[in-house]
Amino acid sequence: MKVINNIREMQSFAESFRKSGKTIGFVPTMGFLHEGHLSLMRQAKKENDVVVASIFVNPTQFGPQEDLSRYPRDEEGDRAKCASAGVDHLFLPTAAEMYPEPPSVFVSIEGITDVLEGAIRPGHFRGVATVVTKLFNMVKPHRAYFGQKDFQQCAVIRRMTRGLDQDVEVIVLPTVREADGLAMSSRNSYLDANERRRAAVLFRALKAGEELIRAGVREPEQVRQKMRETLLTEQGIEIDYAEVADPDTLRPLEALSGRIVLLIAVRLGTTRLIDNLLVL
Ligand code: PAF
Repeated sequence: MKVINNIREMQSFAESFRKSGKTIGFVPTMGFLHEGHLSLMRQAKKENDVVVASIFVNPTQFGPQEDLSRYPRDEEGDRAKCASAGVDHLFLPTAAEMYPEPPSVFVSIEGITDVLEGAIRPGHFRGVATVVTKLFNMVKPHRAYFGQKDFQQCAVIRRMTRGLDQDVEVIVLPTVREADGLAMSSRNSYLDANERRRAAVLFRALKAGEELIRAGVREPEQVRQKMRETLLTEQGIEIDYAEVADPDTLRPLEALSGRIVLLIAVRLGTTRLIDNLLVL
């Protein structure tokens, strides 16, 4: 596996792959890799000639009160994991290279970024869309892989590629979960043992919501209420939202029919956790 730190070098590798007719699969990450990331890398390996993964903790997607400075890092462990998952090129740009001057050029997507994560984390999706566009310009991928765990992020990126005619196929793969249902996330490392045990309630709440829908409940408020009640069975959970939404627009649903996504965000101690479940 080759490690690349430099943007120009990344671009010239990408150009040479493209010129020789090779397809590039890309997995952008912020590191501290877990099985969720590795599943994206393995799938990229199956579907492309060359796999590029990036690790960059992107400052523009963190709010001033958020966890940028304590975001977990493990470069050495991540290198080994990438190599074992079949990554050919690991791109590790520095913040100084990505943002040589205070950023003044941004990609913003309207509508779906006003709700849920976007409402609670103003500017977050602008930072994500900006860095993902920059990374696409560097890695020049044919396909880019994201995890469904960040459901709204996936919707934002899909909309961005369509709206900007970015010639990249966005591929979203299922959330990888721990045995008790907790969605894998780098931020799970913030949880102490007791919080870790309680964190499984997110998945229980999603499943409880899904069960009501499958049992024929057509009133979204009942489903929201059930998810909230389930979450509050564990101590110390503060709910940011427990929503029943349209998977394309992310707007709250007023009636249940067609495709539905259940989305939850909570705070548990100092850790913020999100999860979701598509009900088809
Ligand atoms: O999902 C993430 O890890 C990040 O938001 C991403 C897509 C790598 C952009 O920084």
